[in-house]
Amino acid sequence: MAQPLEKPDLPARFASFADFRLGAKRRIPHFAFEYLDGGIGRDVGLARNYSSLDRVLLTPRTIDEGTPPETALDLLGERWTYPFGVAPVGMGGLFHPESAPALAKRSAKLGTPFCLSFVASHSVETIISAMGRAPWHQFYWPRPDDVQNDILARMKALGVTVIMPTLDIPGHQWRERTIRAGVAAKPSPWVTVRDVAPKPLWAYETLKYGKPGLPNIQTYSGGGPAEAEMFLLQNCIRPIGPEEIRRLRDKWDGKIVVKGVMAPEDAEDFVKVGVDGIVVSNHGGRQLDAAPGTPEMLPPIVEAVGGKTAILADGGVRDGMDVLRLLALGADFVMVGRMPYFACAAMGARGAASLDLLAMQVRTVMAQLGVRNVEELRRLKVEVS
Ligand SMILES: Cc1cc2nc3c(=O)[nH]c(=O)nc-3n(C[C@H](O)[C@H](O)[C@H](O)COP(=O)(O)O)c2cc1C
Repeated sequence: MAQPLEKPDLPARFASFADFRLGAKRRIPHFAFEYLDGGIGRDVGLARNYSSLDRVLLTPRTIDEGTPPETALDLLGERWTYPFGVAPVGMGGLFHPESAPALAKRSAKLGTPFCLSFVASHSVETIISAMGRAPWHQFYWPRPDDVQNDILARMKALGVTVIMPTLDIPGHQWRERTIRAGVAAKPSPWVTVRDVAPKPLWAYETLKYGKPGLPNIQTYSGGGPAEAEMFLLQNCIRPIGPEEIRRLRDKWDGKIVVKGVMAPEDAEDFVKVGVDGIVVSNHGGRQLDAAPGTPEMLPPIVEAVGGKTAILADGGVRDGMDVLRLLALGADFVMVGRMPYFACAAMGARGAASLDLLAMQVRTVMAQLGVRNVEELRRLKVEVS
């Protein structure tokens, strides 16, 4: 017998990703929206993330009545209630001062992972107190040895078990939409007035909580956001390959998940140096306009390293259907970036219920597909049209 749908606690007008995105556009200043929504170049890669997911077709099966779908699974030594988590997204304070803590708290309640960005507006300590446990932590891995050692010692002391070095920012990038919108370390007063004046609620909330900084970097750079930005440019925006990860492996006995792998050969090299997982990701279409979509690279990567390391995937996920598409293509786990942050930009902390929406969609679509667990999902006929 069908059970009544457990509806997420969201206003009725917010039923999908498109609604969150529109709500964000209405509520936050133009420069903040462009930073969150934009890709790079002509946004071809960004559009491809969405269109390549749309092309993944799953043929549903019929099954006899039985137990409801099992969404829980094991990953990186823990059991999670759903096969998705929140990807690292920097500068969440630009969207809403409570975005990252609210999403972290909701993730913990739901039993799903939350990954904090190194360039988050909230310190890892703030996130830990919101969640009641340590998050996963992403890094743009700094060059100086003493900073690396200090980070690892602090992470260990704080109970962080998974660190996630991001590999796909080897140098400067020119993100046209953010540049055009005037986002820089110090936006001009004109941009601030032009964009903020029409958004009084955002201005009020941002003032109330204080201007967002980069606390996780300021720990090492000292000073304010400008010093943190300089530290990042001088020490963290750089190529990182298997040799560097091997050195990290020697120093860190927790889990290492490298983020931003798109080539099967690279995946093989990272497996050889002992990573616990890789995230197949093109950084949400923000680094390379010619990048293939994750659905295009997942099958060859699964073929190369499937079963040898955990394969996580992100890029363009808008709903539970997209989560299941990536799992059906062989990912072990899926991360979502913009979707929950759009929701928080649109409605503040209440937007964290977007994670409940994802969870509900995963359950309902699994039932619709006639699968009882992720293994059965992988046995479905999967086509890329
Ligand atoms: C506004 C924004 C900020 C991001 N900041 C980071 C970051 O600090 N570190 C990182 O590894 N990835 C970052 N990403 C990439 C996400 O972790 C993730 O790979 C991407 O958003 C997935 O695509 P999706 O947004 O379509 O779900 C960011 C993405 C966005 C949209």
